[in-house]
Amino acid sequence: MLAGKKILLGVTGGIAAYQMADFIGLLRSQLVDVRVIMTEAATRFITPLTLETISRHKVTVGMFIDADSSRVEHISLARFSDIAIVAPATANFIGKIASGIADDMLTTTITACTQPVVICPAMNEGMWRNPVVQDNVAKLKRFGYEFVEPEHGEMACGGEGWGGPASR
Ligand SMILES: Cc1cc2nc3c(=O)[nH]c(=O)nc-3n(C[C@H](O)[C@H](O)[C@H](O)COP(=O)(O)O)c2cc1C
Repeated sequence: MLAGKKILLGVTGGIAAYQMADFIGLLRSQLVDVRVIMTEAATRFITPLTLETISRHKVTVGMFIDADSSRVEHISLARFSDIAIVAPATANFIGKIASGIADDMLTTTITACTQPVVICPAMNEGMWRNPVVQDNVAKLKRFGYEFVEPEHGEMACGGEGWGGPASR
């Protein structure tokens, strides 16, 4: 069902970023072509090299450093896919997109996307329950962004709560 599909995967700086190696491997096993954009913060949790090796494509991080200047990289990346997925999506990323801020490669590309965008938030329960974050999520849903809501479970910061990455 997924064979031949093209997915743009945005990875932001949450602890769940390390799980994206397995996620990309799963997509690749279904013959999905995956291109990855990471935020600078995401590179602190998993290296671009790892995701490059698994996706078999260069991973884009910087707006001006990594971008291929022979084309407008964020527009090419925005047009590349059938669907864009941002996983994990930080509170910061959600806030930026909800406010129209496009100050790095990922937020700029997602802002330029006209295809469906699926956002998979993952964060500490306090962050997830923060009314500003919830307001940003509600606003983005109104604009047609899809969400895969976080699940209840063990938190990387200790204890249990809502905010962990969805296992679906
Ligand atoms: C160890 C550690 C874990 C973090 N985990 C998360 C997280 O799961 N979700 C989140 O929203 N922010 C998390 N943060 C905070 C983000 O890294 C921070 O807000 C950063 O600015 C996000 O940048 P980005 O949205 O550009 O990737 C974490 C920070 C640290 C140091």
